[in-house]
Amino acid sequence: MVSRVIPVDPFDLVVFGASGDLAQRKILPGLFHRFAVGQMPEAARIIGVARSEMSEADFRALVGQSLTGFSPSAADNAALVADFLEKISYVTVDATGESGWAELATRLREGVVRAFYLSVSPALFGVIAQSLHSHGIATPESRIVVEKPFGHDLKTAQALNADLRRSFAESQIYRIDHYLGKETVQNLMALRFANALWEPLWNATHIDHVQITVAESLGVEGRGEYYDKSGAMRDMVQNHLMQLLCLTAMEPPSRFRPNAVRDEKVKVIEALEPVSQDDIVRGQYRAQGDVGSYRDHAGNPQSRTESFVAMKVNIGNWRWAGTPFYLRTGKKLRARCSEIAVVFRDPPHMIFPDMASRRGNALIIKLQPDEGITLRNTIKEPGPGGFRLAEVTLDMTFADALEQEADAQDAYERLIMDVIRGDQTLFMRGDEAEAAWAWVDPIVTGWEEAGTKPSAYDPGSAGPDDALMLLHRDGRRWRELN
Ligand code: BG6
Repeated sequence: MVSRVIPVDPFDLVVFGASGDLAQRKILPGLFHRFAVGQMPEAARIIGVARSEMSEADFRALVGQSLTGFSPSAADNAALVADFLEKISYVTVDATGESGWAELATRLREGVVRAFYLSVSPALFGVIAQSLHSHGIATPESRIVVEKPFGHDLKTAQALNADLRRSFAESQIYRIDHYLGKETVQNLMALRFANALWEPLWNATHIDHVQITVAESLGVEGRGEYYDKSGAMRDMVQNHLMQLLCLTAMEPPSRFRPNAVRDEKVKVIEALEPVSQDDIVRGQYRAQGDVGSYRDHAGNPQSRTESFVAMKVNIGNWRWAGTPFYLRTGKKLRARCSEIAVVFRDPPHMIFPDMASRRGNALIIKLQPDEGITLRNTIKEPGPGGFRLAEVTLDMTFADALEQEADAQDAYERLIMDVIRGDQTLFMRGDEAEAAWAWVDPIVTGWEEAGTKPSAYDPGSAGPDDALMLLHRDGRRWRELN
């Protein structure tokens, strides 16, 4: 099936931090891909902004190099790359000073969508928003896009919200959580709300528990300084895992509109019960063979920051009371594997003798790699000689089902196009970010006050043994990481 491409309206997209890592690795290659598939209108323009003095030609050359490195579709298509680079210009702006803003203003056109993507340190969000406003560059229709981390705790998130809202209305602010741009994450909504099959079963009566896993095989090499101040809880749980939990647990919104969807997500976060320290396991990878430890990679020999966290979460509402959600995420684990596993309760009465050993139905929503959906079922093993049961899976990888290249579209591409379309559905609202921090803060301060150390785990493992216990003691087990 060929995907339909609907061109967006003409736009001026200003990327602050344009020479930085994220812009070069994700934002600009993502835009190139949208250009290559024909979604970008002729009148689209991208204006790179950064502090360093650089000629337009040098900036285009830099983008050209990044495309070769990070965009598979650019590798053998020099003519297309050249056409794309024609759309790009560069302005040197001092984000905290006065220089460059007047020049930037002259580059922007009337009558097209105007969007500002702040791929910069959150410390600069407020000051850039303010300057865009005071230099008359931001119009009432412009959009501003901000990257994570959105705060370090509730207080800093509130301050960021206040800073942004001084110059932009909430309807103009797009807070990125790139997990919301992943195809399967969106498919979770389609699965739940476009099919009649699941919703009647989607509650504590029929679902035993839910496992949400975001496992990474990479460590924190190169990002140690940032990560050591955050840890898995702030870096992954507060945002990405929380979003997955919300989309799995939320009530059906009355319509597929940004605020209808986001209202339901906020209600889930507000229904989360406080987590007791007995229900959380923190881990930190140690050295093994020639693989360095977390502490080596973070450059902090005394670090107590967690590179792994597993927890049992209860949602205090009618739909979910009695059905725990187990979350786990970590670095340097056995495999890169992200999925949501919805494990159903056993049939109320068992008529087959070896039924007790089976694991029950489970719906696995696989985010990466190999996006798709799997349904675990029990069937009779073929052949005579008794009635034996076997577990089999019904597998649907989206790449096969839809005849599309796997991972063809990066999350960022989708999200940037949504900004241009003015669709906030897949972006965190300010109150949502704050609610998530309000739930995370006491957990993190609990650790800090108790001065507990994370448990060590081997790189290439499934995390510390205590994480296994978290489910074992409830008579359950984690799914294999592979
Ligand atoms: C980022 C985190 O938000 O997400 C990283 O800061 C993490 O630590 C990354 O590695 C994971 O994203 P993905 O898309 O590779 O699963």
